[in-house]
Amino acid sequence: MDGELAVGGLRAGELAERFGTPLFVYCEETVLARARAYRQAAPEALVLYSVKAFPSVSLLRLFAAEGLGADVSTLGELTFARRAELPGARIVVHGNNKSDAELAAAAKCGALVVLDAADEVDRAAAAGVRRVLVRVTPGIDAETHDAIKTAHHGSKFGLPPDETMVAVGEAIAAGLEVQGLHVHIGSQLLDLGAERMTVDWLAAFAAACRKGLGWTPGVVDLGGGLGVRHVEDEPALDIRTFVQALLDRVERAWELHDLPRPRLVLEPGRSLVGDAACTLYRVGVVKRASETTTYVAIDGGMSDNPRPQLYGARYTALLANRANEDATSWYAVCGSHCESGDVLIERVRLPEPRRGDLLAVPVTGAYTLGMGSNYNSVPRPAAVLVAGGAARLVRRRETEDDLVGLEA
Ligand SMILES: Cc1ncc(COP(=O)(O)O)c(C=O)c1O
Repeated sequence: MDGELAVGGLRAGELAERFGTPLFVYCEETVLARARAYRQAAPEALVLYSVKAFPSVSLLRLFAAEGLGADVSTLGELTFARRAELPGARIVVHGNNKSDAELAAAAKCGALVVLDAADEVDRAAAAGVRRVLVRVTPGIDAETHDAIKTAHHGSKFGLPPDETMVAVGEAIAAGLEVQGLHVHIGSQLLDLGAERMTVDWLAAFAAACRKGLGWTPGVVDLGGGLGVRHVEDEPALDIRTFVQALLDRVERAWELHDLPRPRLVLEPGRSLVGDAACTLYRVGVVKRASETTTYVAIDGGMSDNPRPQLYGARYTALLANRANEDATSWYAVCGSHCESGDVLIERVRLPEPRRGDLLAVPVTGAYTLGMGSNYNSVPRPAAVLVAGGAARLVRRRETEDDLVGLEA
């Protein structure tokens, strides 16, 4: 609009005035389109939003209305899912170190629990859990950052194949309904190679279970993992292509082993909400630090988006209030925290930034605010959902009083 960035029919400047900055702006149309893409690509699968990507009761309600459920990995995430009135039949409970309270809460709502350790068999049965999957670690190295690989040999998640088989046998003996297997190989996957290998491996493992235990998985939960593109030189994989490739591979691999086709569960997080949001920051200091680096300091940083520090994640940015102006130079975007590493973007071309400009950073919907902290006693930002020219607050901005309110 007149050279100004608009989201959901609203000017960035208006959103910033009304809700303050930093501000996470989620586009409802994009969220719904991503949810529908999963449902249409896999109408028979149970699709679960991975709550850790961005815990939000409002988003969960939107997803629930589209027929999605939730994958949760803590009592807190389960509380979000229950607050959104999701039934236990559409909740899967994870965790590599579940507490008794988490198992009891999962049992109470009738959720499907993913066993992740040998001692969880008896603990889950004692807590009253009825339906379970067992998480297996196939020893497959997904092509992604080390910190978000989860199925490699030595991973803290799941059980090695031989122990998985033992756990399945013990869970059946303990009276649990062992519905199937779970695997999640990693996050921000931008190619299908490792996923295809995983499906082939799982089918062979299912055949081994049939031989060894006389049991085959009726449910196969393939986890999440589809990545999103943050910068132009990253590849883009769309939901339909990704899901179709998985479905085709499952069909072929299961047929090859003459196994009954399992019911699929998918647990996307990032690919549902990652590119559905941008963050609006207010520009403060613009400082030429060396011959090669001019910093643009924003009013947020690693406390609202720690992904650059954790995973070397890259982002791009634009000046939201002067989006039609040509970029003239390279800048580094840094936050306001007391860490030299608090750099959100190492290099981005922008029109000459000035104090008071609004900087928009796209594709910040996943693992940002949900992974945020109060470092430097900075209150966490607000999030809004925009659609058709209207915005509603889905998470209020924290205040300094919230922070000191925790003091004993
Ligand atoms: C068990 C499990 N399922 C699903 C997800 C969601 O992954 P993504 O956001 O990459 O789709 C994760 C992410 O870590 C996970 O650990």
